Amino acid sequence: MTITRRHLIRKLGTIGGTGAAFGAMSALGFFPRNAAAFAALPADAGRGVRVAVLGAGIAGLTAAYELERAGFAITVLEARDRLGGRSWTVKNGSRIEMQGEDTQVCSFAENVYFNAGPARIPSHHEALLGYCRKLGVALEVEVNSSRSAFLMGDDGKTLQMRAAVNDTRGHVSELLAKALNQGALDTALSAEDKEKLLPFLKGYGDLDENFTYGGSERSGYATAPGAFLTKGTAKPPVPLAELLANQRISSALFDETITMQATMFQPVGGMQQIAEGFGRAIAAPIHRNAEVREIRTRGDSVTIAWRNTATRQMNTLEADYVLCTVPLTVLAKIDADFSSPVKRAIAGVPYASSNKVAFESPRFWEKQQIYGGISFVGGETSLVWYPSTGLNTDTPAMLLACYVSGRDAVTFAKRPLAEQIAMARASVERLHPGHGADLAKPMVVNWSKVPYNMGAWSSWNADTAVADFNLLNQPDGRVYFTGAHLSQMPAWQEGAVLAAQRTVGMLADRVRETRLVRAG
Ligand code: FAD
Ligand code: PHE
Repeated sequence: MTITRRHLIRKLGTIGGTGAAFGAMSALGFFPRNAAAFAALPADAGRGVRVAVLGAGIAGLTAAYELERAGFAITVLEARDRLGGRSWTVKNGSRIEMQGEDTQVCSFAENVYFNAGPARIPSHHEALLGYCRKLGVALEVEVNSSRSAFLMGDDGKTLQMRAAVNDTRGHVSELLAKALNQGALDTALSAEDKEKLLPFLKGYGDLDENFTYGGSERSGYATAPGAFLTKGTAKPPVPLAELLANQRISSALFDETITMQATMFQPVGGMQQIAEGFGRAIAAPIHRNAEVREIRTRGDSVTIAWRNTATRQMNTLEADYVLCTVPLTVLAKIDADFSSPVKRAIAGVPYASSNKVAFESPRFWEKQQIYGGISFVGGETSLVWYPSTGLNTDTPAMLLACYVSGRDAVTFAKRPLAEQIAMARASVERLHPGHGADLAKPMVVNWSKVPYNMGAWSSWNADTAVADFNLLNQPDGRVYFTGAHLSQMPAWQEGAVLAAQRTVGMLADRVRETRLVRAG
């Protein structure tokens, strides 16, 4: 006799009850739920099921939105007084509070803002872009790279991106052509390929008739073309040795990294607009200033104790299931009755540091033909990122004078804020001499000190943490963990969206299978 899926579920249910049936079926791989495209759930999938969603960042909001559409009775608890979590737009009136630092209050001019966390969305982050479309969040192009921007070496010498890219390509093409013509690659290439490669290199590197590189307009004009007989002339090429000596040369093609390629997007008015869009679309209660303090499972339900940080009042919420998006750095300190391996896994996940320093400034960089894009400066401030909005106007703009992650970010964040600001200003002064003094209204974010995050993004070591990663990707009883840290893109909002969709799918499967068992 063949055992059908329904037979098996019924049998398991009769032997051990719904919990046992569900556990066994999970172990048998009945609910695989990987990152397959998320299919909308039936509108009554969650009828009568209460879910507490902890955290209203992109993961919590995605989950709340999808669960509500599937008929679940949801309540969202968010510790901050705003939605979005790391998706945070700092503008006039915003307060930046960090552990151990004085509160900073933003006084930027109208329309000037600073995306303290995420600032760009690649074209291939389709799940996030899909929600922007559904929620009516207007997008505009984020100009991620500019050939007019710079690579600054440790000696302060700058290379313009267009020269760095095109002179390197010219020199390398000439060398390769030489090697081909000398027969050095005859064993590696067929005669036919060799014949095709030479003309290709000529175009690729802008070589002359003799396959030598004598410079190219691609790298910039020495004199610009003009009226009547004024012809454009190319700048002399930067010698290969000089290109290679610049410690930032590897950033010349940073925009070839798949996540950095054009076209990049940003929401009009700041990244937080996505969270606001979700907020408008979710009808269920989203409690702000609701800091989760305790998570306890009692029988068939979970009780959450939370504190209203505005009134200091303690409250409780009972739910059938919990979907927890709280960053693991924060969750590790919350009183919860998770299993010991889960507690250990949560406490063991490292998070990266990341800092941003923003100023309000007149658009002096646009006088150097820089419209958007990034200059790389190295050191503890790492880069200067130019704004993509208000281009070619006389309006004030936000200039990001530091965005650094990883080890240098740890060192930088240990410095007093005044010193961080001075270093960011000094780096702009070095890159754009005479303009350090143009920078006003500094705002600093050190993500390792930001309450309710205490870190920029999880930095799991995929080789050593596989077991913990898998463990947290499964529910602990009635509590489901989700968020960008449970995806392959911990430093991207797309990771938060896909993780949340997967978790919603798992929960809906469980509810469906549990009903089947009960109906047995
Ligand atoms: P979070 O946004 O951290 O949400 C968790 C929520 O839980 C928060 O709202 C928090 O307040 C809440 N919470 C915490 N503790 C409690 C508690 N006790 N009780 C109740 N609620 C609680 N992504 C991109 O797509 N593009 C980028 O350009 C980009 N750049 C980035 C730059 C920086 C500096 C940083 C830090 C991140 C960047 N990211 C970027 C990554 C992106 O921000 C994250 O992947 C994504 O926002 C994570 O969403 P989440 O919902 O998983 O977590
Ligand atoms: N997603 C973040 C950003 O775009 C962090 C990141 C930077 C991730 C560079 C990958 C590469 O700034």
